[in-house]
Amino acid sequence: MPRIVFVGPPGSGKGTQAAILAKAQGLAHLSTGDLLREAVAAGTPRGQQARSYMEAGRLVPDDLVLQILSERIAAPDAQHGFVLDGYPRNLAQAEALARITPLDAVIAFELSFPELEARLSGRRVCPVCHTVYNIVTKPPATPGVCDREGATLVQRPDDQPAAIRTRLSVYAEETAPLLRYYQDRRLLRTLDARGSAPDVAARLARLLR
Ligand code: AP5
Repeated sequence: MPRIVFVGPPGSGKGTQAAILAKAQGLAHLSTGDLLREAVAAGTPRGQQARSYMEAGRLVPDDLVLQILSERIAAPDAQHGFVLDGYPRNLAQAEALARITPLDAVIAFELSFPELEARLSGRRVCPVCHTVYNIVTKPPATPGVCDREGATLVQRPDDQPAAIRTRLSVYAEETAPLLRYYQDRRLLRTLDARGSAPDVAARLARLLR
């Protein structure tokens, strides 16, 4: 039962690759970012608490994210293996995760700062089905319109330049120390996240063999 964690800076392609890998291997895709955005959109108390942190590009408080993750990881589809994308993001979260589940591999996504910025500023999302596009690398057939839903694509509030800068510095300060943590536990494998999504997916599959 593969239990895989993706760690990487914002825009490095974790969500894109988690979706591909989960589909290919029949794993559950657990994304704390998606779960939090759903809570915000639904206007739940947790969503209301998380909203301002997310829009500013800061981390949502650990206890709130842990509650959301604990519920999701206990769901039936996660009992046959999962790809966890976006958790943990600091050492306290890594220790909380170790108390919930053992892990088989932690994949560290690597991409240069200019490429991260370009991918994030080009991202557009369907507000209905949440399909992720990119105006440069994955444009919809009709500019600005979702291929599936016909809805007008939107930009995530945290893909504005100021929030992008905050997210990248939060990653460097709080999340990057996890690489050493998982290296010490012999779980870390490094993924070169450059190139097209299918190229990265092929590289990832080789890394997990
Ligand atoms: P989250 O949603 O997890 O955001 P993130 O980690 O910043 O990652 P992104 O979703 O921005 O990027 P990605 O690496 O998934 O890239 P993607 O595949 O989309 O978290 C959002 C917020 O929620 C946080 O800031 C925080 O506030 C809160 N949060 C979440 N988890 C938390 C936690 N554990 N604790 C506390 N707070 C938490 O790709 C990006 C773009 O590039 C897309 O347009 C895509 O089409 C394109 N692209 C992808 N791959 C390629 C490729 N190979 N070539 C070209 N383009 C590509």
